[in-house]
Amino acid sequence: MNYRTNKVVSSAPAKVILFGEHFVVYSNPAIVAAINKRISVQAQVNDKLRISIKSGENSLSVPVISKEEIITANDNSLLFLHPIFKCIKHVLSEKGLLNVGINLDIDSQIPYGEGLGSSAASCVSTVAALYSLFSNRDRNQIYETARIMEQNIHTNSSGIDCYVSTFGGIINFEPNKGFSKIRPEKKFTLLIGTTGVKHSTGKVVSQVKQFRQRNSSVFKDLSLKAHAVCKRAMNSIYEGNELELGNMLTENHKLLYTLGVSHPKIEKLIENCLDNGALGAKLTGAGKGGAIVALIPNDRSKEVLTRISRGSGKWMLVEFDYDGVVFG
Ligand code: MEV
Repeated sequence: MNYRTNKVVSSAPAKVILFGEHFVVYSNPAIVAAINKRISVQAQVNDKLRISIKSGENSLSVPVISKEEIITANDNSLLFLHPIFKCIKHVLSEKGLLNVGINLDIDSQIPYGEGLGSSAASCVSTVAALYSLFSNRDRNQIYETARIMEQNIHTNSSGIDCYVSTFGGIINFEPNKGFSKIRPEKKFTLLIGTTGVKHSTGKVVSQVKQFRQRNSSVFKDLSLKAHAVCKRAMNSIYEGNELELGNMLTENHKLLYTLGVSHPKIEKLIENCLDNGALGAKLTGAGKGGAIVALIPNDRSKEVLTRISRGSGKWMLVEFDYDGVVFG
């Protein structure tokens, strides 16, 4: 098979789940948006027959014939690099290129393990860079492969993180209709706060699975409420109704709290937001740490941001990303 010998570059955005995390794993709706923080990957074929991956201070370099199992994900650096190694092995074997070495350099603006889709964005950008080396830049194929790879990280993945990272924009997921893009009339100002508490999405998803097995009627009731919140949120996005959208964020958070996926630091960040003028706030992603998302009134965004930033937490204003995965 022919392949590009020059270096290729691709990047994919982080995501923020606005509504429906966890419930979406059980075929409920969700609204998720790509945001303007990216993971960028440079890839090149090498003639050393090695897979070498570098990401900041973390690196690994092993012979290409190495089995996936030799990379044990016990320390932090391997935890992040292991799924990327698996993506490389998967694409090489899919293309029948078992004797090709790869150098991969990763540059990330997305905090790892904080619910902002770093795993999905790393799978999407890695798969995209490798497909680009082997002359195939089809987004649907990138999504399908990245989704399979993300399943290695957490087995019950709904696929929404990889979808939004591949295609960008604000995405509505409906169980029977699949994914569709939402184009809001009005600008919304979103603030992300991170707790600094890392979580494993796979573990939290498993805990929710146990919760559901032990409390099936409570889970059913929460799902119905989450479904209704998502529908109302969709309408408020279309109508540009900030107040209603903010309320829906807070309502969604209450359901996640009952599900047991909040964390004292999340509660503190949310309280800080609501006490200082945010229109609503919720945890985003798997929870048990990670990040929160708050809606800030457009006309008072500076003032509210200044007040919130005085409290604990790390804060960043984000914008929606409409590009998804890009090359070059
Ligand atoms: C993780 O970002 C979102 C979850 O709903 C899991 C998933 O949808 O795969 C918790």
